[in-house]
Amino acid sequence: MRKQNFQWTEMTMGVCYYPEHWDRSLWREDLRRMKEAGISVVRVAEFAWNKVEPEEGKFTYTFFDEFLDICLEEKMSVIFGTPTATPPAWLTEKYPEVLNCREDGTAYRHGGRRHYNYNSVKYQKMAGRIVEKLASHYGKHPAIVGWQVDNELNCETYEYHSKADTEAFRGFLKEKYGTLDALNEAWGTTFWNQTYTAWEQIYVPRPVLNDGYNPHMYLDYDRFISESTIRFCRMQAEIIRKYKKTGDFITTNGMFWNIDNHKMAEECLDIYTYDSYPSFAFGLDRDPKNARDLNDRHVSKNLTEVRSICPHFGIMEQQSGANGWVTRMAGPAPRPGQMRLWAMQSVAHGADYISFFRWRTCTFGTEIYWHGILDYDNRDNRKLLEVKEFYRDFKKLDGLCGAEYAASFGVLKDFDNVWDTNIDEIHRIVNGTSEEEIFKVSQLTHTPYNLVYLREESTLEDLVSYPVLFYPHPVIMTEKRAELLKEYVIQGGTLVIGCRSGYKQENGKCVMMPQPGLLRVLTGSDVKEFSFTHGMEEPVWADWNGKHMEMPVFNDIMEIAEESCENTKLLASYGNSFYSGKAALIEKKTGKGRTLHLGSTFSRQNMELLLDYLGVKEPFRQLVEAPEGVELAMRRKEGREYLFVLNYQFEPQKIVLKKTMRSVFRETDVCGEVEIPIFGAEVFEVPVTK
Ligand code: GAL
Repeated sequence: MRKQNFQWTEMTMGVCYYPEHWDRSLWREDLRRMKEAGISVVRVAEFAWNKVEPEEGKFTYTFFDEFLDICLEEKMSVIFGTPTATPPAWLTEKYPEVLNCREDGTAYRHGGRRHYNYNSVKYQKMAGRIVEKLASHYGKHPAIVGWQVDNELNCETYEYHSKADTEAFRGFLKEKYGTLDALNEAWGTTFWNQTYTAWEQIYVPRPVLNDGYNPHMYLDYDRFISESTIRFCRMQAEIIRKYKKTGDFITTNGMFWNIDNHKMAEECLDIYTYDSYPSFAFGLDRDPKNARDLNDRHVSKNLTEVRSICPHFGIMEQQSGANGWVTRMAGPAPRPGQMRLWAMQSVAHGADYISFFRWRTCTFGTEIYWHGILDYDNRDNRKLLEVKEFYRDFKKLDGLCGAEYAASFGVLKDFDNVWDTNIDEIHRIVNGTSEEEIFKVSQLTHTPYNLVYLREESTLEDLVSYPVLFYPHPVIMTEKRAELLKEYVIQGGTLVIGCRSGYKQENGKCVMMPQPGLLRVLTGSDVKEFSFTHGMEEPVWADWNGKHMEMPVFNDIMEIAEESCENTKLLASYGNSFYSGKAALIEKKTGKGRTLHLGSTFSRQNMELLLDYLGVKEPFRQLVEAPEGVELAMRRKEGREYLFVLNYQFEPQKIVLKKTMRSVFRETDVCGEVEIPIFGAEVFEVPVTK
């Protein structure tokens, strides 16, 4: 999001509330109890279509009129959600064409949520009408401060297989390719005799034997889903914008698959929000053997993604109790301290708004085990106390509102490559491994990073603030992107790429060029052969000036490209396997900068060597010594720096502060050894050095 149209000016706490789930007699008391706890915003209405249009074309506003007026009296602000994630039964029954379908064409039926499709003209009209009615009626209500479009676009499913989707897909392709000949060429349909001779022969993906899908078709399908989602969001945002008060924001709560969230945020929203449920990591359905490293701390990876979309984001749903639908996802109750820790995790990564999900656990429906702050019995409890404690500390961070997250290096991504991993298994394995390992090394060595998405409109300005950029596996490379990377390197940047870079063009077809294709001029590397490393006698490694370096998962077996000899250095060579002695890491200087090509995926061990070599490892080492078990993060504003220390461990952790710093929560100066309690979260204000 280049320009975030809305930003909170002070740390703000909210909660998700469903007036339609409770007797009216509870509303006022609920709002008062919320206010007492520090909650000043409620998000409402995002599934309540029937409360406004109980029958087709019959609109009634009394329910939310009454609720909003009470909010106004109680000085509670409101984020109003559009209800399009849950079309009413009367609608889907009368117009079944609005339903989304499974791949085999069977429609999803009323009863769950998100069972509609974006491309049904009927649904666009019905959704547009309810949004228009809501926005025109409530748009000027003084209690409202913001609007949420739909709920979690592309959650539950991110694939669409209805008739309307097929028809719209054909339109999308006609516009993109103009002729069937061009489409056949782009999709390589001569392979397996897939050639299309009429547009009517083309469908959104349908079941094919043994998953033998055409990958080039799939890439376009993912682009099409993203465009359809964004169009649906834009349609609603444009309607709301006509009626909302100046200063009220439009948001949606993400972040799900098959959407270019950056484009959506930029074109439709004023601010982006995220739903954070760290305790998924401890769910009963998680096989401990397959548990992802770092458990609840792993959410920091998602928060890094969110920050790349919108630097000063909000959390629309912050976990406040055990999770679980009646049918799945059962999880444990947050231990004492964990709710506060998880909320601080969001703040450390850039959130200035924390809204807990939900005020009270629902006593009926699929989510009776998705617990809120209050339990069914409605008594004050430990969780409410923890929310109050969080609020007390959160307000001490008011000065940080809008502060930047301090990143040591950047990691580049782009949506062509993100989507290619949906269908290309090799790309998925290679990229998935590196993404996880880069995150892990960043966490464990306390070397924070930002994600930077390369988009159509990206310019050098978006890159230059990072001295080092990793672009782990840009399998798809375009001339435009290669040119931008060149500019970045020439002006003094360091670019690092991994194996399998640059071997596809934008339709996902392989290029008939030596790898890394268009990047070869920057890397000075020439990939002669390549292979997965599994099946090798022993783990593959390379020798980097006497240091042993892991070369896991997949190897580019390289030489220095003939034309590049002059400015190019061989940094490391393979130490074993049939390619022992071949180049494993090559560095080439171009202009004031350099490019490194590592012939494998990134791992904790080789990343540590690289970060060290590039001089960006552990940027806080002058300030603090911290064990791996805590996360360190820093937010900076107007020359002031705040260091977050988050302890996710089930035991206390000791850190050593190397300077006297102000503990923001304890309101004392501290130095030397400090114990961070179990699930503790501390913030220290770093003294300004003149
Ligand atoms: C979120 C969703 C909420 C609620 C919650 C618990 O994904 O936005 O409406 O369903 O999960 O399942």
